[in-house]
Amino acid sequence: MTQTLTLTINGTKHDIELEDARPTLLDVLRERVGLTGTKKGCDRGQCGACTVLVDGRRINSCLALAMSHDGADITTIEGVADGDTLHPVQAAFIENDGFQCGYCTPGQIMSAIGLFSENGTANDPEQLREGMSGNICRCAAYAGITEALLDAQT
Ligand code: FES
Repeated sequence: MTQTLTLTINGTKHDIELEDARPTLLDVLRERVGLTGTKKGCDRGQCGACTVLVDGRRINSCLALAMSHDGADITTIEGVADGDTLHPVQAAFIENDGFQCGYCTPGQIMSAIGLFSENGTANDPEQLREGMSGNICRCAAYAGITEALLDAQT
């Protein structure tokens, strides 16, 4: 039975027809809405590449059934810049080489934005690394990522 999923994504309301209730939020964002900035890494909740904000809280979108978030407000990496002006966290990642291949970067940035909104700012690198422990960087660009997180708060 077809069901209608309603999501507000980056400020725009979407009514999405689903043939069944099984697609994940990640697959709906990428395959139905065309927002491919959110990445699929492990597809099992281990890497954080798929991090998005749901009603302001960060989640692994590969673990969430889209239908369970019917009516939610979703923010993806495509929605954080203000026109041509990058979000401060995006700008800090560029400024501090907070990436190498870049595949994990959208998830890292969304997780950092969520972390700052949940916990406020933190100037302790250990605390930042702990807060970002759900986001894996296969290239191990952690030094630059930590610098970016510190810089984004100044
Ligand atoms: Fe979701 Fe890895 S793709 S945690």
